[in-house]
Amino acid sequence: MLATAGSAIGLGNIWKLPYMIGVNGGSAFVLVFIACIFFVGIPLMMTEILLGRRAQKNPHDGMAALALEANANNLWKYIGGIGMVTGLLILGFYSVIGGWVLSYIWFALQNAFHNINGLQAKTNFDALLASPIALVLWHTIFMFLTMGVVARGVNQGLERANNILIPALFVILFILLGYSMAVGDFGASSHFMFAPDFSKITPVAVLSALGHAFFSLSLGMGAVMVYGSYLQRDVSIARTTIYIALADTALGLLVGLAIYSLVFANNLEPAAGPGLIFQTLPIAFGHMPGGSVIGVLFFLLVAFAAWTSAISLVEPAIAWITENTQITRVQSALMIGVAVWLLGVAVVLSFNNWSSIKIIFGLNIFETLDKLTSTILLPLGGLMMALFAGYVMKKDHVQEELGLKDISFKCWRITNNLIAPIAILAVFLYLFGFVK
Ligand code: TRP
Repeated sequence: MLATAGSAIGLGNIWKLPYMIGVNGGSAFVLVFIACIFFVGIPLMMTEILLGRRAQKNPHDGMAALALEANANNLWKYIGGIGMVTGLLILGFYSVIGGWVLSYIWFALQNAFHNINGLQAKTNFDALLASPIALVLWHTIFMFLTMGVVARGVNQGLERANNILIPALFVILFILLGYSMAVGDFGASSHFMFAPDFSKITPVAVLSALGHAFFSLSLGMGAVMVYGSYLQRDVSIARTTIYIALADTALGLLVGLAIYSLVFANNLEPAAGPGLIFQTLPIAFGHMPGGSVIGVLFFLLVAFAAWTSAISLVEPAIAWITENTQITRVQSALMIGVAVWLLGVAVVLSFNNWSSIKIIFGLNIFETLDKLTSTILLPLGGLMMALFAGYVMKKDHVQEELGLKDISFKCWRITNNLIAPIAILAVFLYLFGFVK
């Protein structure tokens, strides 16, 4: 359970959700995002955990075993295979952003935010983005940290630290939020995030919100399946899921509230994009009492959260290689590490020297990887898992694994078998231009 929470809570909450809210027009996006968490994210997280716990294997072989048990086609195993690749594609950019966080620990240690204003914060961030060498260096350190843990297989020890560090992250966030409420424009922030404005619900916002529900809860690529396979038999899947999903979502929204209070009080741009937290939070740390210490702690905790998430992005692939070949953990971590590192270098360059290289639909390398994984591959993986658990597996097996009785099992079934698949399909049909 700790491992799953560690996987879910990461850059998705602290870095990505806040800027996506701004890019997608605020409250409309928040509303759809929350709906996606409840009607798609929570049921599918239960599904993914149950598949993992029943299969007791890496996603690829696990899906093969479950398909065999249900007398179904062996092709289902490719859900697992595609998921592993998806995880590595995500890690390609996740590690680069993890590197940004590391560099901000370093800035904070040097007290670089002291009395900083909005313009200076933006200039600092832009300078970091313009320096491929610095970015590659930090990305390399982040990859080393991640693959180092994976290679030695010491994830469990690290996950236990979540027990202390996730609550610590909440504490720091409350301090930050308190400060933003006191000096920032909290009224404007809560209005921006929560005043319902249905006119702003655009198809793109819906698509991004759905994709982010998957990203934030680590769904659709087998990470949660791997951790589900470690979950003890007597633990309730439903309760575990609900705790994690609520904590994960609350965390992201709290960061959002703190950030937008600062954004509106300092006349900054809400739709600043991926740099948002790095351009706003330093202002708070630079002015609040004890800010130099709190800033260091904050970025340290974020780095830790990102680290445990990154591990879960590679774990399925490593588990699959080591369980099926003679290749050792260290060797497979090395191979995968090098491949993902190279991908990350391309992502780094997409923020500077290669920013004009567009892959598809005018998106650069970073944006392509992000959109491809969040809005296509993860929802697709989730859809397949939902259909498999809902229509291929024996109902008794599913119910036994979930341990839910009448009404609660019905709720899961309706969301897993109907609501979630229909929502995902509707979004896909729109995406591919079948519905306008
Ligand atoms: N959920 C993590 C975050 O919010 C990122 C993550 C870890 C992830 N493992 C995943 C996303 C698997 C999708 C799939 O930062």
